[in-house]
Amino acid sequence: MLAVVILAAGKGTRMKSSLPKVLHQLGSHSLVERVLRSTVDLSPSRQLVIVGYGAEQVRSQLADWGSLEFVEQFEQLGTGHAVQQVLPVLQGFEGEVLVLNGDVPLLRPQTLRSLLETHRKHQNAATLLTAQLAHPQGYGRVFCDQRLHLQAIIEDRDCTPEQRQNQRINSGVYCFRWSALAQILPQLKAENNQKEYYLTDAVNFLDPVTVLDVADEQEIMGINDRKQLATAETILQSRIKDDWMAAGVTLRDPASITIDEQVQIAAEVIIEPQTHLRGKTSIGAGSHIGPGSLIENSTLGEQVRLLYSVVRESEVGDHSQIGPYAHLRGQVQVGPTCRIGNFVELKQTSLGEGTKVAHLSYLGNATLGNQVNIGAGTITANYDGYHKHPTYIGDRTKTGANSVLVAPLSLGTDVTVAAGSTITQTVGDDALVIARPHQTILPGWRLRGQA
Ligand code: UD1
Ligand code: CA
Repeated sequence: MLAVVILAAGKGTRMKSSLPKVLHQLGSHSLVERVLRSTVDLSPSRQLVIVGYGAEQVRSQLADWGSLEFVEQFEQLGTGHAVQQVLPVLQGFEGEVLVLNGDVPLLRPQTLRSLLETHRKHQNAATLLTAQLAHPQGYGRVFCDQRLHLQAIIEDRDCTPEQRQNQRINSGVYCFRWSALAQILPQLKAENNQKEYYLTDAVNFLDPVTVLDVADEQEIMGINDRKQLATAETILQSRIKDDWMAAGVTLRDPASITIDEQVQIAAEVIIEPQTHLRGKTSIGAGSHIGPGSLIENSTLGEQVRLLYSVVRESEVGDHSQIGPYAHLRGQVQVGPTCRIGNFVELKQTSLGEGTKVAHLSYLGNATLGNQVNIGAGTITANYDGYHKHPTYIGDRTKTGANSVLVAPLSLGTDVTVAAGSTITQTVGDDALVIARPHQTILPGWRLRGQA
């Protein structure tokens, strides 16, 4: 039986934030959620979260997790004091307890599995996840013999200058035999530089304890301030991007590209610099995206070409071309082989197959058929100041440059709208519609005017 205990009661003073530290976002999840997710593979039978500062906020943010048990630590008197709070809750529990810091969000599930395996193999009272760091400042130092049996953990502040040279550090991730830890916890004393109850002191009392060095030291990075949060974001992004490149996606200048975790990308996709893929987005095979694009919660088909554009909550069909400088938002549906060109904004609009909106247009609440050609500068006037109204445009209809389509409005199939027209009434199929003043010419006007 395995129980997971996550320490998440601290305020995180160095974040300079009213939001509890563990609720700060890293990628698409909060820090504490990431820690929880890293334990899911282990199928723990109990999951306890120790809350204190901002307890209500932490509880409500994690409400979706269902099976969590929250334990309140009313005063934050140290990591040992935090774990003391679960004593009554885990009374009589038989098995291992995995203790994790809520501010260490980059752990890989495989690392926790190795920790647990080491713990079981040695039948330890406790097993400690450690790392050897070139710059160990700030972390508790871990001293052990050649067989990796623990001799002592000493907090940075309590170290002598000589002890501080030791590069093996405590990651704050531990596996305990609960019955052994439960016996020691009540005996902790706050006799140290910070006058806190240290969990590390409990570890010092237990036997046998061995340590396990983590292979990738980035995993055990703790987040204490916003600079470290930004560093963690960079690490997380390079993990995501490395995985996509390994899966056959080309990223040009990966450092300038960001990709959220839920994004799906097919093989043979090319992503150019300064492109950001967010939320529930998926990109079909052979598509070429960027440079300079933002795609959020959208689905792009295969062989789509998109550059310098913003696409949100929309769908784009196979072989369509978008941009440069197009903006699609609010449930736009672009069919296959369409072309959306320069300075075109589409909102809540659907386009059939092979339809073109090539230059300088705004279409809102419009439904266009197949092979429609929207002339440069065509605008739907879809808003009367109170309500949005729809526009329907049939197959093969063409609008001339600078047409205004005043909604609600319906144009049939094979309609031609003359350039510069303001259309206010329904037009049937196969018609030419001209709605502009006749041209008036007054010959000799300049001469007379000057006379
Ligand atoms: C702790 C370890 C240190 C280790 C480091 C790794 C101790 C005494 N020291 O130090 O050896 O190198 O983590 O990052 O354990 N918390 C509570 N209640 C409290 C105090 C802390 O829930 O009363 C939580 C915090 O919210 C945080 C975690 O415990 O998530 C760690 O606390 P923190 O104060 O950051 O410990 P460190 O000084 O970093
Ligand atoms: Ca810390």
